[in-house]
Amino acid sequence: MRLVNKTAIVTGASRGIGRTVAKVLAEQGASVVLAGRTRAALEEAAEEIRTRGGQATAVVCDVTVEGDVEQLVKATLEGYGRVDILVNNAGITRDGLVMRMSEEDWDAVLDTNLKSVYRCTRAVLRPMLKQRAGRIVNIASVVGLTGNAGQANYAAAKAGIVAFTKSVAREVASRGITVNAVAPGYIDTDMTRALSPEQRERILSGIPMGRMGSTEDVAYAVAFLAGEEAGYITGQTLVVDGGLVM
Ligand SMILES: NC(=O)c1ccc[n+]([C@@H]2O[C@H](COP(=O)([O-])OP(=O)(O)OC[C@H]3O[C@@H](n4cnc5c(N)ncnc54)[C@H](OP(=O)(O)O)[C@@H]3O)[C@@H](O)[C@H]2O)c1
Repeated sequence: MRLVNKTAIVTGASRGIGRTVAKVLAEQGASVVLAGRTRAALEEAAEEIRTRGGQATAVVCDVTVEGDVEQLVKATLEGYGRVDILVNNAGITRDGLVMRMSEEDWDAVLDTNLKSVYRCTRAVLRPMLKQRAGRIVNIASVVGLTGNAGQANYAAAKAGIVAFTKSVAREVASRGITVNAVAPGYIDTDMTRALSPEQRERILSGIPMGRMGSTEDVAYAVAFLAGEEAGYITGQTLVVDGGLVM
């Protein structure tokens, strides 16, 4: 129970990586606030945690809406009195070659995947600065490090997260707050289930471990960075990819 007495906000917690991150943080003792747009799925995820003896609250929040994000942090402070951990996980893809990419697809991906990280981080910093403690973990991606044809918007957003992470880490390092990123490789979720069998084969052949990652593989890395033991680690991007990028 290394996260006992901690309160965590996880965005994009209705399914995929975020849902497992919420589950693992709760298993380690944290009270978890699950945020996302789909109420039914969020409630189900929160109920699963409570059934296993954990503390969890579902809050409907679209991370592209500033008022929703403010409300999310307000509800967390009202419910639990503090916010110790923020996991910026919500994300979408709108893939396409850049020549044919619409501004709408560019903006949607940058807003959901990058600007939301700024929005949520800004919203939790005041309480964290008051507490003189906090952990922010941003979910980037290996494609933010390598680039990927057909994902210029997504890769740019994820590379932006890496630089944002380092910048904020520098701003708050003296206040007991760490800011790190986790960069997953290919993880088995709804996001990657859209890949064709050929794309999947090609990707698998490039992964030294020969398998896609599980949501648990990512969640345990996040949980490590969210704990006290990781207190001297900041501004880092931890790659969780079965050896794909090294
Ligand atoms: N899967 C991979 O291989 C992989 C690899 C590298 C990085 N990642 C990153 O890991 C994170 C999670 O991905 P995943 O694979 O778990 O994807 P997923 O299964 O598609 O889940 C995405 C989550 O984000 C939420 N979300 C999307 N837009 C949102 C918005 N505007 N406001 C609030 N929540 C929103 C979704 O909930 P609602 O739809 O209910 O809002 C859902 O809970 C993303 O940042 C993704 O880029 C994934």
